[in-house]
Amino acid sequence: MGNFADFHARSINDRDAFWAEHAKRVEWKVQPKQICDYSNPPFAKWFVGGETNLCHNAVDRHLAERADQPALIFVSTETDTEKTYTYRELHAEVQRMAAILQDQGVVKGDRVLIYMPMIAEAAFAMLACVRLGAIHSVVFGGFASHSLATRIEDASPKVIISADAGSRGGKVVPYKPLLDDAIKLSAHKPAKVIMVDRQLAAFTPVAGRDLDYATERAKHMDAVVPCEWVESTHPSYTLYTSGTTGKPKGVQRDTGGYTVALAASMPHVFEGKPGGTFFCTSDIGWVVGHSYIIYGPLIGGMATILYEGLPIRPDGGIWWSLVEKYKVNVMFSAPTAIRVLKKQDPALLTKYDLSSLQALFLAGEPLDEPTAKWISEGLNGKAIIDNYWQTETGWPILSICNGVEKAPSKFGSPGKAIYGYNVKLVDDQTGEELTGANQKGVLTIEGPLPPGNLQTIWGDDARFVKTYWKTVPNKLVYSTFDWAVRDEDGYFFILGRTDDVINVAGHRLGTREIEESISSHPNVAEVAVVGVADQLKGQVAMAFAIAKDTSGLTDAAARLKLEGEVMKVVDSQLGAVARPSRVFFVSALPKTRSGKLLRRAIQAVAEGRDPGDLTTMDDPAALQQIMELVKA
Ligand code: PRX
Repeated sequence: MGNFADFHARSINDRDAFWAEHAKRVEWKVQPKQICDYSNPPFAKWFVGGETNLCHNAVDRHLAERADQPALIFVSTETDTEKTYTYRELHAEVQRMAAILQDQGVVKGDRVLIYMPMIAEAAFAMLACVRLGAIHSVVFGGFASHSLATRIEDASPKVIISADAGSRGGKVVPYKPLLDDAIKLSAHKPAKVIMVDRQLAAFTPVAGRDLDYATERAKHMDAVVPCEWVESTHPSYTLYTSGTTGKPKGVQRDTGGYTVALAASMPHVFEGKPGGTFFCTSDIGWVVGHSYIIYGPLIGGMATILYEGLPIRPDGGIWWSLVEKYKVNVMFSAPTAIRVLKKQDPALLTKYDLSSLQALFLAGEPLDEPTAKWISEGLNGKAIIDNYWQTETGWPILSICNGVEKAPSKFGSPGKAIYGYNVKLVDDQTGEELTGANQKGVLTIEGPLPPGNLQTIWGDDARFVKTYWKTVPNKLVYSTFDWAVRDEDGYFFILGRTDDVINVAGHRLGTREIEESISSHPNVAEVAVVGVADQLKGQVAMAFAIAKDTSGLTDAAARLKLEGEVMKVVDSQLGAVARPSRVFFVSALPKTRSGKLLRRAIQAVAEGRDPGDLTTMDDPAALQQIMELVKA
């Protein structure tokens, strides 16, 4: 145990020595020659000259000590499957998948897109890619053809790995038709598609393009595919995320920095120990799934649970039953999931033996006090650790780090700046740093970003610089696009986004993407989408649209019909995750006299709040109409 303030100070003031020490947690083929090259800000290169491999550190290196210990525990309450893969078995499966990719000519630097449900093969696929030095791009299974197509086009994968279907709440969700549509829509076509056939949904393979995973795997039962040693700065993956514009950004991650950052986070943030069990309930399509279902726990020599299913099926005790059965030590989930559980019988929380569990980590969206209190009491006072981060950062920015020094949590706060992060609150107008307690500012990170954070935006360095970086007096800072305050003890409180990103049930969505999708409906002239506070999901998307032809919209039934059609467009293009909770039809949208949409005002009235200063508004009746619609 140390002193957290000293630990953090050293990570900033003696940066290279600090990270050189943590680099020892990773196995290198060639040791790094330089810890951090920040000669071309804001681009930071970590562990320059070093060569390593992410798959080696997640799998192969553990064979000597724990080959027969569990590595991957796949649990599906959708298909009633439970299967544990030891490190030795995982090693074999990953090599089989890697051999299949090699047969298709996949080599270092090639992109492979993974569009899969939460099945063990998805983990094999990710690990096989990084084993070969290929760059994976996992697309969340909840995204539909249009979202998928933009990602295929941007990543230009040589191969796509997919499956016939996922399953949700007992309902089969076919993937293949969406994938076929997406490939049709995309200007880039993959050479091959590897299909895992779960036999959930029948499909017709595309001749010459689609390969059956089981058939290919059978050819490679004894596959030996060595790890490709790559430079520390070689990209391990890209992961798309939403921002202000409609076009998703491919967050690009390196190899060495990411491996070191995750390796260091296991003991310091999560107190995870080799041989223990980690259960992260996220999805591999999100950053939390990348870092804490797959790479972090495996790098840390732990067993990791990959769970397909709902938290309440067969009942709200399913996750706790897994904690008991697999002696889970560290659990990681999202506040929305806990709010869902809160509606279940509270007795389910005490039905199982949870003595192995050290802490429950929650991230992705604000953790409200009632939910935090409910779960804390329900789990008999176990540590509930709210942590704050982003797709871009790859691992937490704010948390308490009990592995460094035990510290109390404060309700509503994700804790303090983690080692490596030089967090500054800045005034959004003047760019001045706000050093006093309880001042509201934009949460920024002074460069260089620590290891594991994004290197750039895939294929668009200029966008990376322009989107995130700002020179404030004497400093170059990365903006998180989140408002925050810091109290007198150094604990931060997150107050929401500064941009048009919304957070629905922990899923980060761009309102512009949703607006673009809605606008493609032939009868929509204009639309504004805002995030509105929701008891269960944190936020939901709400749309206010102007119809081109209003002649048929005279009664409520006709408006409901059009609303349903618009929702279907969003479902089929972006996926149900992005579907607005309501689409209201209005005759005008509130704008400034110069024609700028007043999103903040729309959001405020949709939440029943005071819209604030409206002196620049062109047509007050437009806002009045929205107010009345939402009230009704
Ligand atoms: O607005 C913040 C919110 O989620 C955003 C990042 O979402 P994503 O890229 O999907 O990464 C999630 C990784 C956990 C942030 O900009 N957010 C994330 N964690 C918290 C949060 N808001 C409040 N409290 C949190 N703990």
